[in-house]
Amino acid sequence: MRKVFRVSLKVLGIIILLVLVTGLGGFWYINSTFLSFENNYAENNDIKELTLDGYTFLDRNGNGDLDIYEDNRKSTDERVKNLLLQMTLEEKIHLLKGSGFASGMGIGNSTVPGAAGTIVPTPRLGIPTIYLSDGPAGLRIEPKREDEDRTYYCTAFPIGTLLSSTWNTDLVNIVGTAMGNEALEYGIDVILGPGANIHRHPFCGRNFEYYSEDPVLTGFIGAAMVNGIESQGIGTSLKHFVANNQEIDRNFNDVIVSDRAMREIYLKGFEIIVNKSQPWTIMSSYNKVNGKYTSESKDLLTDILRDEWSFEGLVMTDWFGGSNAPAQIAAGNDLLEPGTKKQWKALKEAAKNGTLSEEEINTSVRRILKLIIQSKKMQNYKHGNNPNLEAHAKIARQSATEGMILLKNENALPIRNTRNIALLGVTSYDFIAGGTGSGDVNEAYTVSLEEGLKNAGFKINQAAKNLFETHKTKYKAEFTKPGGISAMINPYIPPRITYTESELNEIVASSDLGIITIGRNSGEGGDRVEKDDFLLSETEQNMMANVCKVFHNAGKKVVVVMNIGGVIETVSWKSKPDAILLAWQGGQEGGNSVADILSGKVNPSGKLPMTFPVNLNDHASNTNFPLEGGTIDIKRMIFDSLEEKPENEKVKNKDYTNYEEGIYVGYRHFDKAELDVSYPFGFGLSYTTFDLSNLNVTLQNDTINVTVTVTNSGSLAGKEVLQVYTSKPDTNIDRPLKELRTFTKTKNLKPEEASTVSFQIPVSELSYWSEETSQWSLEKGLYSIQVGTSSRDIRLSMEVEIN
Ligand code: BGC
Repeated sequence: MRKVFRVSLKVLGIIILLVLVTGLGGFWYINSTFLSFENNYAENNDIKELTLDGYTFLDRNGNGDLDIYEDNRKSTDERVKNLLLQMTLEEKIHLLKGSGFASGMGIGNSTVPGAAGTIVPTPRLGIPTIYLSDGPAGLRIEPKREDEDRTYYCTAFPIGTLLSSTWNTDLVNIVGTAMGNEALEYGIDVILGPGANIHRHPFCGRNFEYYSEDPVLTGFIGAAMVNGIESQGIGTSLKHFVANNQEIDRNFNDVIVSDRAMREIYLKGFEIIVNKSQPWTIMSSYNKVNGKYTSESKDLLTDILRDEWSFEGLVMTDWFGGSNAPAQIAAGNDLLEPGTKKQWKALKEAAKNGTLSEEEINTSVRRILKLIIQSKKMQNYKHGNNPNLEAHAKIARQSATEGMILLKNENALPIRNTRNIALLGVTSYDFIAGGTGSGDVNEAYTVSLEEGLKNAGFKINQAAKNLFETHKTKYKAEFTKPGGISAMINPYIPPRITYTESELNEIVASSDLGIITIGRNSGEGGDRVEKDDFLLSETEQNMMANVCKVFHNAGKKVVVVMNIGGVIETVSWKSKPDAILLAWQGGQEGGNSVADILSGKVNPSGKLPMTFPVNLNDHASNTNFPLEGGTIDIKRMIFDSLEEKPENEKVKNKDYTNYEEGIYVGYRHFDKAELDVSYPFGFGLSYTTFDLSNLNVTLQNDTINVTVTVTNSGSLAGKEVLQVYTSKPDTNIDRPLKELRTFTKTKNLKPEEASTVSFQIPVSELSYWSEETSQWSLEKGLYSIQVGTSSRDIRLSMEVEIN
C-alpha cells in the first residue's frame, strides 16, 4: 500500500509538472495519452514444471503438453512460429506497444523500478515481461526500493565519448560485458544503448552519449560495446536511428540531408555496427529525415536496415516518438515505446479496418517474439540482484584512465616531487561523472579529483580547500543536485568560484602545484551554447590567467583538467597552463582515473574522437544549428505533435535543419577547407614517444593488407593508437582529403619494444555514395594509404592501385 502511494506521488509529480507547462486543460489528455496503463495484462506467475524424457520444461500455457515454443531444444525460428500460431490478434496487437510510461516506476507488476519501458507479458501463454532500461554509460534503474534496507546502485561507467577516446575495442568490449552483466543480475533484458549518432556540431547536448565525428570510429567502438553487452544474453538498443544531431525541437525537427551525407556519415556508423555485431534491437529517432519521421520511414527501417544490411532484430521507437502508430508498424518499426492508450486504440482500429494487415502485424510480432525467446527471462534465469559492483568499478576506472587525453605537457607531468597540490575551481571537489537525462546513471558514489589525488598519496592544499568550502556554504541551494525530470531540464552547474590575488598568494605559498578543473555538463533535452559553456566564462578566464601568473611567478606549474562532456574553446587559454588533461566525464571512478595519469601510474593513451576547432564557426555545420540553446518544448510535444506547421511558419534550425555541409563534418571539413585547428581528430600525447617504420601495403583479392611496425622510442612503457586513413589524390569527384578506414591500439610497449601490426581494408570501403546512380561507387586508380598517430600527423604512406 505504501509503495503504491509513494509511486502514485511520483506520477502525480509528473502530472503536475506536465500540467504546469501545458496548462490545466491538458490533465485528461496527458493522463489518457501518456500515463494510462489500464489495458495491461498482469504477468502469469503460476507456471508449472513439466518433466519429459528426463528433461524439465516449463508448461507455460498450462495445457499439460510440451508445446514447440516451450521446448528450448527447438530452434528460435520454430519456437517463434509456433508461438505466433497460438496468439490471438488482440494479444499480438498488445505486444506491439509497451505497458506505458508509468509502468517503469514500480507500479502494477513492475519488478524493476526505474526501467524505462517493457515488452508486455502474454499471461495466457506464460510469456514474461521484458524490461528495457537506459543507457549508454551504465544501467539506469531506481537505486532504492520501498521497505528494503538494501540498495540497487549501478556502476557509472565513463561516457560514450570517453570510451571512443580509448580507441581500444577490446577494452570497450570488457566495459560492455560488465554493463550487460549488471543488467542481467538486476533483471533487465535490454539496455537502451549504445548511441551512435555523429557529433555533427559541438553543441548537441547529447554528444557525450555518442562516440565521434567519424563513422568508422563510431562503428568499431559501438560494435565492441554491443558485442560485450550481448555476450551476457542481454539485448542492446542501438540508438537513435538516425540523424538525431540536435536536442532542440527533436520531436519535430526535419533533417534535410543529401543521400550521400546520410550514407557516408550518418548511416555509416550504424551500418558498421549492424555488420559487426547484429544488435538485438535498434531505436528509431525522434526526428524526421527529408520530410518523414524515421519511425515511419520504410525506406530507412525496411529497405536499408533489413533488405540492404540484413538486420535481423526489432526496431523500437524512441519514447513517444513519431505520430502514427499503424504507419510505424507498417514501415518496420515493430515496437512502440513506452506505449500509450492512444496507440493501442489506433492499432486496433487499423487492424479492424484493414489499413494495417495481419501480415504486417505478424512481421513485427515475430521479431518481438524472437527477442523474447532469446532472452534470459525465457530461459528462466533467476537474477540474484547482486552484480559484482567492485569488479565493475575497477573496469570503470581502467577504461576511464585509458580514454583520457593528454593535450599538452611542458615538463609538468607526470607529477614528480610534489606533495601538496592546490585544487582550484569548484569541479575539482565536485567532479562530474557523466551527463544528464536518460544517459545518467544512479551510481553509489563519484570519486572527485580531490579524493582521487588523496587516494594516490598526494596532500591537498588546505587554503584552497577552505575557500571552496566557504563558497559552497554561501551558495548552498545551488549546490543541491536536482533529481528526476528537473535534472533533465536543468543540468547541475554550481556557481563558479572567484579568487582574489591575496587568496592566490596564500595558496601558492603553501602548495607545490596548482590544478584547475574546468567543468561542463549537458544532457538530454537541451543543446549547449557559446557563452559560458563553449567559451570559458569571465570568472574562469580570470581564474586561468591569475592562477597561472601567480604559480609561474613562484616557479611552480599549473595543470588544467577538463572535466567536460563536449568540445570547448581552447585556443584563447591553452598557452597559459603547463599541461592540459582532457579527462572527459569518467564515470564514478573519474577522480581515481585522473590521479592514475597525473601520478604516472598509467601512461595516457587516449586520442581525440573529434576535432577541437579554433573558432566555433569553423565548423561547416555552424550556419545550420540552433545556436541559441534552450530545451525541448514539452508543451508543443504533447499537443502539436500531430500537426504539421504550414510551410511559411516553419522556423529554420527548429522545424527543419539543412545539412548544407553534406559530408563535410569534423576533420573532413577542416582538412578540405585547410583550416587550422586547436587539436586535430585523433590527437593525444603520451609520456613516451613512438616511431613508425616498415609500412607495407599489398592488394590481395579485393582486400588491402597493411602492416606497420611501431616502436616505443621513449623511456616509459606506453600504448599507441595507429590510425589508417585513405585518400584519392587524383579523384574526379568532390571527396574528403582523407578518411579514417581502420585503427588499432597497441599493447603496453616497454621502452625500445617494437610491435608489428596488420590491418585489412576491404577495397569496397574506398567507395563513395553516388547521387547519380544511388549506389556505392568505386573510383579506379591510385589511392594513398596513410598511417599516422593523428589525422594531422601522418607518419608513413604508400600508394596502391585499384583496377
Ligand atoms: C531518450 C532515449 C531513452 C528513452 C528511455 C528518451 O527520451 O531519447 O535515449 O532511451 O528516453 O529513457
